[in-house]
Amino acid sequence: MSINEILLEVKGLKMHFPLTQGIIIQRQVGAVKAVDGLNFFIRRGETLGLVGESGCGKSTTGRAILQLYRPTAGQVLFEGQDLCKMAGERLRQMRRRMQMIFQDPYASLNPRMTVGNIIGEPMEIHNLAKGKEKQEKVQELLRVVGLNPYFSNRYPHEFSGGQRQRIGVARALAVQPEFIVCDEPISALDVSIQAQIINLLEELQAEFHLTYLFIAHDLSVVRHLSDRVAVMYLGKIVEIATRDDLYRTPLHPYIKALLSAVPIPDPTVEARRERIILVGDVPSPVNPPSGCNFHTRCPIAIPLCSEQEPAFVDKGVDHWAACHRV
Ligand SMILES: Nc1ncnc2c1ncn2[C@@H]1O[C@H](COP(=O)(O)OP(=O)(O)OP(=O)(O)O)[C@@H](O)[C@H]1O
Ligand code: SF4
Ligand SMILES: [Mg+2]
Repeated sequence: MSINEILLEVKGLKMHFPLTQGIIIQRQVGAVKAVDGLNFFIRRGETLGLVGESGCGKSTTGRAILQLYRPTAGQVLFEGQDLCKMAGERLRQMRRRMQMIFQDPYASLNPRMTVGNIIGEPMEIHNLAKGKEKQEKVQELLRVVGLNPYFSNRYPHEFSGGQRQRIGVARALAVQPEFIVCDEPISALDVSIQAQIINLLEELQAEFHLTYLFIAHDLSVVRHLSDRVAVMYLGKIVEIATRDDLYRTPLHPYIKALLSAVPIPDPTVEARRERIILVGDVPSPVNPPSGCNFHTRCPIAIPLCSEQEPAFVDKGVDHWAACHRV
């Protein structure tokens, strides 16, 4: 296994949800272009942060990768094999290797199941363990995520938010996955607990050699834990770079604006910080703007921007951006 091995590659990924009208006869009148042509890869063992404003298509991207939604177009290559073309037993086998940790640890655990059954169920579904062996594995997993192994007969409501998220993590680990989509796993938690869950995810990554797609709302959350960061705007990725490159030398005006809003701890640098204010709201993914879909809010847009979509190209070393003016 080489350090640079690409585990997952996404090519031209689109996820459009049909918009229908009519009560008896449903007609399709349009589509929500939630994800509209993504290209990126994730190396084995790395964390790719995926950042963007609410509604830009982050969760849909995660779900389409795991085939929880079947994509409208494009390829999702896992070890070079296209998941979008798989079905039945073959897809089920691949699904074991990929898991998701959800944002809301209250809604994502079945309140009527014991913790032992929640964590043990995926092992049974994938024929990995049953009976006493399963119980032992559940206890081991509880220990791994920092919970008392004797809690397996309890129900989710008996736990705090942070503990429930640990249960969600244990459930994801139960099938020994290689790749995990962490969909805003800390944003529903108390600030005081967030760092603990981040630390846990980092420890588990090192111990089990996991690869993460880590979804977050804002750039500050993923800064610490990502190797590379991708930023989405309205269904598209506008820039991907190594963590240091993205925060030090952002290229795309959208990311420059996002970063300009973050205060800098050094008072002399802070005094010189220029805030770029974005005007207007994010347009609807049903009717995205022509050309570069950011042109309606971009402070440096030129006439070309509304006519032609900028290509997503490598502007340096592993530093991709889509902008006519970079
Ligand atoms: N099942 C669905 N059917 C129709 N539209 C959907 C569906 N799921 C998501 N959408 C729409 O697709 C767009 C992207 O949604 P998505 O949940 O992926 O965004 P997000 O970036 O995860 O947002 P958030 O930060 O709020 O979680 C939104 O406009 C949303 O309303
Ligand atoms: S392509 Fe044009 S509108 Fe889009 S980000 Fe670049 S300058 Fe702004
Ligand atoms: Mg989401």
